[in-house]
Amino acid sequence: MEAIILVGGLGTRLRPLTHTIPKPLLPLANIPMVERMIRNLPEVFDTAILAVNYGLKDMKKYFEERDVGKKVIIVPEDKPLGTGGAMRNCIDHVTGTTAVFNGDVVSSIDLNKMLEQHTKTKAKGTLALWEVNDPSRFGVVEYKNGEILQFQEKPERGTELSNLINAGTYLLEPEILEMIPPNQKISIERDIYPKVAGKGLHGFPFEGHFIDSGTPESYLEANFKSIGNNGTAAHTGASIRGSVLIHKNARLEHCIIGPNAIIGPNVNLEKCVIRNSVILSDVKGHGSVIENSIIGPEIKFKEDSKRSLISPKGQITF
Ligand code: GDD
Ligand code: MG
Repeated sequence: MEAIILVGGLGTRLRPLTHTIPKPLLPLANIPMVERMIRNLPEVFDTAILAVNYGLKDMKKYFEERDVGKKVIIVPEDKPLGTGGAMRNCIDHVTGTTAVFNGDVVSSIDLNKMLEQHTKTKAKGTLALWEVNDPSRFGVVEYKNGEILQFQEKPERGTELSNLINAGTYLLEPEILEMIPPNQKISIERDIYPKVAGKGLHGFPFEGHFIDSGTPESYLEANFKSIGNNGTAAHTGASIRGSVLIHKNARLEHCIIGPNAIIGPNVNLEKCVIRNSVILSDVKGHGSVIENSIIGPEIKFKEDSKRSLISPKGQITF
C-alpha cells in the first residue's frame, strides 16, 4: 500500500531556514520532518511516494544515502502542480487505496483506525478532521453522521460552516485521483473536495494533537511534541529542566537546558541557557541565554556580540 506525502511547498514562513534546507528536511527533534512521517507510517504501508517540487536535489540525495524502513519513490514536478495536481502526478505508482499527507502536519492520528473506518464505510475518500477555535485559515467541513456534506477552503471569517477543519491526512480511492485532470495546477481542497462532498466523502475526527508546523512558532511546538518519551533525562555538561533532547554528538559544558529544548548534532555550547528553543546542527555558542528561538545550522554566537546571531545561513528569533 502506498502513502503519498506532499512536500512541494516553498516554506516561505520558515525563511531564512528554508533558504538552505527544504522544509521537509528540517528536523523535528533531530529527525527530518519527512523521514519522521515515513517512519511513523503503519506497517501496511510499504511505499512512501514523495511529491516534490522545491528542494528536489537535496531530497534525492538524502534518501539515496539512507534506509528509512520503507521503499521511497520521489516524483518530481517541473512546476508546482498544487496539492491535487501533485497527487495526480503520482498516479502511476499507486495500486489501490492511498493515504495522502500534507508534509507539514504533525498529529496524533491513528491511521490504522482511520483505515478500518474507511474500509468499513466504503467511502470514496476519508479526511481526518480536527476541531479548532478559529477555522478560517484552514479547510472547513460540514460534517454529519460520519459524512462530509460540504467543504470550504480558507473561508472568510464569519462564513465558516463549523469548527471542524481538514487535518491534511486523507485516505482516497483511485477514482478520486482519476477525477483530477493531469498536468494542471489543481487544488484538491478548492477544485475537488467541494465536488465530492455529499457523495461519498467521509470524516474521521480525532483527538490528541495537531500542528501545522509551517510557522516559526508552530515549528517549535512540533519539535517539542516530537520529543515524546525519547527525551534526555541527564547530561554530564548540563543541568536539565523539563522536556529536553540532546543529540549524542553534542558537547555541552556548564549549561542549563530546558524546559523545552532540542540540541542538534555537533553543537558545542559553553555557559549557555537554552529555553523553549531548537538549536540545529553545528552551532557553537558561549555565554548566552537563548529563548523562543530556532538557531542554526552552523551559527556562532557569544556573549558580547548580539549581531553574530544574524546570519544568512538561517536564524529566526521571535
Ligand atoms: N508537491 C507539491 N506541489 N506539494 C505542494 C504544492 C505543490 O504545488 N503546494 C502545496 N504542497 C504541499 C505543501 O508542501 C504542504 O505539505 C501541503 O501541500 C499543504 O500545503 P500548505 O501550503 O501547507 O497548505 P495550508 O497549510 O495553507 O492548508 C492545507 O493544510 C491545512 C491543514 O494544515 C489545506 O489542506 C487545508 O485544507 C488544511 O486545513
Ligand atoms: Mg500547511
